[in-house]
Amino acid sequence: MTGKNWDRVPIDAQSIDAPLSRAAIFLVVTVANEQAALAKVCSALDGLDDLVKTVGFRDLAARLSCIVGIGRDLWDRLHFEKRPKELKIFEPITGPVHTAPSTPGDLLFHIRAERPDFCFEFERLLLDSLGDSVAVVDEVSGFRYFDARDLLGFVDGTANPTGLDLPASALVGDEDGDFAGGSYVVIQKYLHDLGAWTKVPTPLQEEIIGRTKIDNIEIDDDDAPRKSHKSLATIVDASGHEYDILRDNMPFGRPGQREFGTYFIGYSRYLWVIEKMLQRMFIGDRPGAYDRLLDFSRPLTGTTFFAPARPALESLVQTAQQKFATSSGS
Ligand code: HEM
Repeated sequence: MTGKNWDRVPIDAQSIDAPLSRAAIFLVVTVANEQAALAKVCSALDGLDDLVKTVGFRDLAARLSCIVGIGRDLWDRLHFEKRPKELKIFEPITGPVHTAPSTPGDLLFHIRAERPDFCFEFERLLLDSLGDSVAVVDEVSGFRYFDARDLLGFVDGTANPTGLDLPASALVGDEDGDFAGGSYVVIQKYLHDLGAWTKVPTPLQEEIIGRTKIDNIEIDDDDAPRKSHKSLATIVDASGHEYDILRDNMPFGRPGQREFGTYFIGYSRYLWVIEKMLQRMFIGDRPGAYDRLLDFSRPLTGTTFFAPARPALESLVQTAQQKFATSSGS
């Protein structure tokens, strides 16, 4: 895809195009207000690439990768000189029946690997380096479920952009030159009502998702009165151009607690594209014709971040560190 050989070298931090994995941890933290806390966070972010190497090199076939996303509020508190044009706090959406809440989060760490122990070890060392400068607000361990199915039983991720379409859809370009190569990231943690879902006959489930269940064939519902999830999540402009995003959703759960979920994560070149998908899902295309997937899936969280490209991240945190050093007189 990118010509990179992931098996020979550790994967650089901030590689949005790192391979989809068998295991993932989604870690969301808030950062304390004191300058010492902000300085500690910058130093941990500065060391992120080294930490990926430290853990990842122990088995390159585990393909450990980590992407950090920074929320708007922390972005402003760190007084970075520039800000990605579209970065803002996740706006809650209230539809006729379902609501997408907005929940706090200063930093998102999206940790992926073929082996869950690598995700675990990386998260452990990362949190050690962040210390009490952060508070964990959410921590989810996801797993790949059979042939990349969500817990509703459908193959999830098929329409993801590949090849040259991947950077064109997921990475900021010349339209915001200071942040080119970075990506807007939106997360939502969904819980499913599996009991209710399993009572829905398979043909109706397929109509709701927009693909057949066993063999994953796309269903054409252009003329249907009620659009499927995949059609509501398809964004096309007046000239017929389709705007894709890169998703790496992961199932998670604890059957003993009747907890069954999908952790949605979307990377996009333009934040408005994900916002529009959410509008269409929650409000509906015509209003009222919302995404029936939501009758069985409730979002508990909703947060927006920006994941800068690695050189941009380094330069942002190093500049902030210098400012902290000057203001503390060291
Ligand atoms: C409970 C949460 C969700 C589940 C279980 C889920 C599941 C799926 C499944 C099974 C597909 C069809 C196969 C594929 O192309 O991946 C799909 C497609 C898609 N979903 Fe979701 N999804 C969820 C939430 C979301 C959210 C919140 C968004 C965007 C904000 C989104 C955006 C998309 C897009 C862009 C597609 C591809 C549409 C196309 O065919 O071009 N999904 N999803």
